Amino acid sequence: MGNAVLEVNELTTKYITRFGENIYAVDHVSLKVEEGKSLGIAGESGCGKSTLALSLMGYYFPPLYYTSGQIIIDGQNISGMDPDEVRKAILGKEIAYIPQSAMNALNPTQRIINFIEDVIEAHKPYATKKEIYDQAKSLFEVLGLPAEVLNKYPVELSGGMKQRTVIAISVILSPQILIADEPSSALDVTSQKMVIKMLRNLMDSGLIKSMIFITHELPLLYNVTDDIMVMYAGQIVEKAGAHEMVFTPIHPYSQGLMGSIMVPESGLRDKKLTAIPGVPPNLKNPPSGCRFAERCKYVMPECRVTSIPLRDAGGGRAYRCILPKEFLMEAYERERGER
Ligand SMILES: Nc1ncnc2c1ncn2[C@@H]1O[C@H](COP(=O)(O)OP(=O)(O)OP(=O)(O)O)[C@@H](O)[C@H]1O
Ligand code: SF4
Ligand SMILES: [Mg+2]
Repeated sequence: MGNAVLEVNELTTKYITRFGENIYAVDHVSLKVEEGKSLGIAGESGCGKSTLALSLMGYYFPPLYYTSGQIIIDGQNISGMDPDEVRKAILGKEIAYIPQSAMNALNPTQRIINFIEDVIEAHKPYATKKEIYDQAKSLFEVLGLPAEVLNKYPVELSGGMKQRTVIAISVILSPQILIADEPSSALDVTSQKMVIKMLRNLMDSGLIKSMIFITHELPLLYNVTDDIMVMYAGQIVEKAGAHEMVFTPIHPYSQGLMGSIMVPESGLRDKKLTAIPGVPPNLKNPPSGCRFAERCKYVMPECRVTSIPLRDAGGGRAYRCILPKEFLMEAYERERGER
């Protein structure tokens, strides 16, 4: 086993709204990302993916609050640390974060090189403009981006180029781990492929040591990440290797996600799409039993009694359901054959 770049144990965090309501968006989440490995996090809108990203970076600014659990980044335990301190100590250098819709948040009055200057100067105040430009130029070359982009304004770049530029800016300090939140959403298929290729290059070239890729499209993670974690209503409902998750999902929710989205790279292009009926529960007052019960076709009275623990499925896999994995996997196979 490799060195853990990031280790999260039983992390629980919540939002407290201005009306004093608690929203339990991350509930006892544990995960580990080792050097040289990438983890995909998938789930529908509102399942807590972005909140988990902020939480595991120690980014606790109201209305988000840490409740319990452990976060260890590159051997350093940051749980309970002052968020400003965490930001100064690790952001950019240890962890690079590309927020959802980051490319639309670029200040339109700055050239691309100015964003890079801001990042480098925050960590190396004595770097000259020439040194920064040279460093940026050589990174852009490695990543297959034209150096002319450095002198352009965001508005002069296409959506795909802007997103690849945002990724390049975020890794200028060679972070241990890159967290990319929906980096390819809202892009056309060609740009999406280029973004994914670039993320793979970053890993292969060693520019980043590990990666977390967040998306609501589970099949997109196939070929990009080593492992996949599916989230539902603030909890992990399944963990597996990427291939296993895409081709033999166990949890009824993961199975539903695979059936509702089509991505040609997964090799499942001939499938008939079926949406998961219903919507995720309100996280202000999540159900006490299985959180997926309202939407599950296998629901039984015992599913609603008490919270369902994650159970070991062997081979490094785990899932959160009371039914045996054999039953669930056979049912999925049968359904796929019938489609
Ligand atoms: N600032 C906030 N204040 C209160 N509740 C919030 C806040 N941000 C998110 N939430 C709630 O927390 C839950 C998880 O939201 P989150 O944005 O993490 O989901 P997500 O999986 O990233 O969704 P998406 O795919 O739409 O980005 C949702 O119920 C959401 O309404
Ligand atoms: S515990 Fe019950 S309701 Fe939940 S996923 Fe399993 S069968 Fe469905
Ligand atoms: Mg999100």
